[in-house]
Amino acid sequence: MQLSLSTWQDVESYLEHSTGIIVPIGSMEQHGPTGLIGTDSICPETIAKRVGDDNGVLIGPTFNVGCAQHHLGFPGSMTLRPSTMIAAMCDWTASLSRHGFDKIYWLNGHGGNIATINAAFVEYYAQRSLESVPAKQPAITMKLQNWWDFKTVLDTAKRMHPVGEGMHATASEVAVTYAAYPDQVRDMVLEPKIAPTGSFTDAYDYRKKFPDGRIGSDPTQATIENGQELITVTAQAVASDFEAFINTP
Ligand code: NI
Repeated sequence: MQLSLSTWQDVESYLEHSTGIIVPIGSMEQHGPTGLIGTDSICPETIAKRVGDDNGVLIGPTFNVGCAQHHLGFPGSMTLRPSTMIAAMCDWTASLSRHGFDKIYWLNGHGGNIATINAAFVEYYAQRSLESVPAKQPAITMKLQNWWDFKTVLDTAKRMHPVGEGMHATASEVAVTYAAYPDQVRDMVLEPKIAPTGSFTDAYDYRKKFPDGRIGSDPTQATIENGQELITVTAQAVASDFEAFINTP
């Protein structure tokens, strides 16, 4: 069940039996020569939609531009400043809260978002704590979950790509996008086969150290079949984790 494909009456009925929602959150940034710019948003969105279809969970719109300043050296990459992202996340949360949602599960697709998502949670909680009159809206509990961070998903990725999974433009995330959009599979030889690894600061530094955009990965291993399996394994993990989340006071 997707929020964007629901009517207000659908949402009103949903709220009678559940006040939890999954919101995919990602990024719009280069993913190397064979990876799509929307990869970090497509992955959590595709997995969340599967959870929604299989379990009747409401899936919010995808927060699809995140913190990706370090990728701005590559055409097409977009970023929010952390302060902008925090403000937007708080407004999304307050909107959902107004209707009675009190459990928001942010399914994240981008490592560079983690610090800012956690900061947004603290910002939201601080606003409530600082109000001298108790707010009329219900208290909110939020959770950040990276889609790749379940043991079953890590094990599956390791089995599929024991070498060259990498840190950015990973074989697994590219596989998930190819499964979601089979007509977008890119077939090319990359040199070096496995990209360099290391740290970075800003967009200029990043482009100098990682000239084709990848970090530590060989995404040419990505296949549609592997992506389909990763989506299934991850959706099962997310469904149980979300169930536990909404049942925890
Ligand atoms: Ni990514």
